[in-house]
Amino acid sequence: MRILAIESSCDDTGAAVLDGPEQILSNIISSQFDVHARYGGIVPELASRCHIEAIWPVVQEALSAAGTSLDEIDLIAATRGPGLVGSLLVGFTFAKALALVRQIPCVGVDHMAGHLLSVFLEDNHPRFPYIALVVSGGNTSLFKVDNPTRFQRIGRTRDDAAGEAFDKVAKLLELGYPGGPVISDLARDGDPTAFAFPRAWLDEDSLDFSFSGLKTSVVNQVHRLKQKEVPLPVPDICASFQEAVVEVLVEKTIRAAKRYDCSTVVLGGGVASNPRLRSLMAERSDREDMKLFVPAPLFCTDNAAMIGLAGYHLFQAGHTVTPDTDAYSRSPL
Ligand code: KG4
Repeated sequence: MRILAIESSCDDTGAAVLDGPEQILSNIISSQFDVHARYGGIVPELASRCHIEAIWPVVQEALSAAGTSLDEIDLIAATRGPGLVGSLLVGFTFAKALALVRQIPCVGVDHMAGHLLSVFLEDNHPRFPYIALVVSGGNTSLFKVDNPTRFQRIGRTRDDAAGEAFDKVAKLLELGYPGGPVISDLARDGDPTAFAFPRAWLDEDSLDFSFSGLKTSVVNQVHRLKQKEVPLPVPDICASFQEAVVEVLVEKTIRAAKRYDCSTVVLGGGVASNPRLRSLMAERSDREDMKLFVPAPLFCTDNAAMIGLAGYHLFQAGHTVTPDTDAYSRSPL
C-alpha cells in the first residue's frame, strides 16, 4: 500500500510517501522558521498563509522524490489535530479534496499518535505495551501505548509544555527562537548545579507536569542578576534550567513505567532531541532494567512520515474520514 502523508499542525509543512507502514520513500519538510523567528514565536495567521503557499509544492516534491505520482497512491493520511486550527485546516482539507478527486480513502491522524509511533520508523522496534513521553513545543504528556491504535494518556502538563518553557527562557535570555536547541548547546558549557531552580513534582502520585513555576523562577533570578549589574552567566542558567526540566521528565516517565508495569520506554516530540534528556533517560532506564527507544531527531520533530505510519494503522482498523469530517485543535486522546 502506497501512502501519501501530510502534516501541517503547526509551523512546518510536511509531506511524505511511504510503502506500507514503515518504508519511507520520501519525507519532505518546509520550515517557516524565518517567517516566525523575528516575532520570537509562531504567529498563527502567518502560519496558515505559509501552509497554503507551501502545501502543493511540498506534496509535489514528496511525490517526485519518491519516484511516484498521485495515480500510484492508495491512501492519503493527514494530521487532523491537535494544533493550530488554521494550519490544520490547510493540510487536512487539501488531503480530503485530493482523496475525493482521486476516489481513494483518506484518514485523519491525531498528531500525538504520530509522535507515539514515530519510533517504528527506525529499524529497532519496541514491543507493546510501552510508556511514551511526548514532549514538544505544544505538548508534554505521558501515554501508555497498548497497540498502534490504542493509547491511554496517563499524565499531562497543567500549564506550559516543556518546549514552550525552553522557548520562553530563550526569549528572556535573548537567544532567539526556537529556544531548545540553543539552550541545550549553551548548557554544555554550563554548571547544572549553579542555580537551584525548582522541580515541580506535584502530588506524590501525580504523573502530571508543571513548568510555569520553573519559568518564573528563572525570570526572577535573571532580574536579580541584572539588578546587581553583573554579567549574566548564560551557560550556567541554561544548564541549571535544562537540568530542572529534564530531571522531572525522566523521573515521572520512570515512575509511570513502574506503575503500569511496562519495561519499555519511548520518547517522541521535538524536545526528545535534547541530548541531556536522551542521556539521563538512558542512564535511568538502564538502572531500572528498562529498554529505551528514542527516534532520530528527524523523527522527533514534526514530520509527515510518522503521520503516514499512524495513518496506515488507522486505515487497517477501519477509520476513514469523509469530506465533512472536521479538524480539531485539542486532542481527544
Ligand atoms: O515537535 P516539535 O518540532 O514541534 C511542536 O511543538 O509540535 O517541537 C518543537 C519544540 C520547540 O519548543 C523547541 O524549542 C523544542 O522542541 N526543541 C528542543 C530541542 N530541540 C527542539 N528543546 C530542548 N532541547 C532541544 N535540543
